[in-house]
Amino acid sequence: MRVVELEANSSVRTFDLGRALGQVVQAGDVVGLIGDLGAGKTCFVQGVAAGLDVDQRYRVSSPTFTLINEYPGRLTLVHVDLYRLDDIDEMAEIGVFDYFGANGGCLVEWFDRCLDNAPRARMELHFCVVGEEQRKLGVWVAGARHNDLAQAWMAAVGETEGK
Ligand SMILES: Nc1ncnc2c1ncn2[C@@H]1O[C@H](COP(=O)(O)OP(=O)(O)O)[C@@H](O)[C@H]1O
Ligand SMILES: [Mg+2]
Repeated sequence: MRVVELEANSSVRTFDLGRALGQVVQAGDVVGLIGDLGAGKTCFVQGVAAGLDVDQRYRVSSPTFTLINEYPGRLTLVHVDLYRLDDIDEMAEIGVFDYFGANGGCLVEWFDRCLDNAPRARMELHFCVVGEEQRKLGVWVAGARHNDLAQAWMAAVGETEGK
């Protein structure tokens, strides 16, 4: 179910949208990020880290060799990037699925590569490149809990805008 479509006309805006989500994300939440290379997925996750009060000395980036990075914060940020995933079995082997439903907030780049194995309850963010700096972000949810998450996120976005 699509909840809303957001516009981000700068990387700062994408970061801020992520930060607002980081302020409300709960342990066990699964957020899948889908979109082309350079669409802004990692930029968004960097914002989530800021919203989760992850120490700035951790520089959230796309992992070069690992598929998963964890960062301590208000709750653990589990950052999964499946760009280098060769096959889905590898994903099971390294235990990605154990993270779904674990005690952290799980953000998964290239989520479309694991759709068949992903939990049904989740939020999906579809990033679309509209212009050099323009991005559209389609927000989809499945399940009541992630719908609540989306609502809390939109409220947090509204608060930031009010400041
Ligand atoms: N509105 C925007 N949102 C996010 N990134 C943007 C935006 N406009 C330009 N950019 C640039 O696009 C790139 C996005 O990179 P990144 O977040 O690593 O993408 P991805 O993880 O989807 O491959 C960055 O270089 C960033 O500066
Ligand atoms: Mg990335």
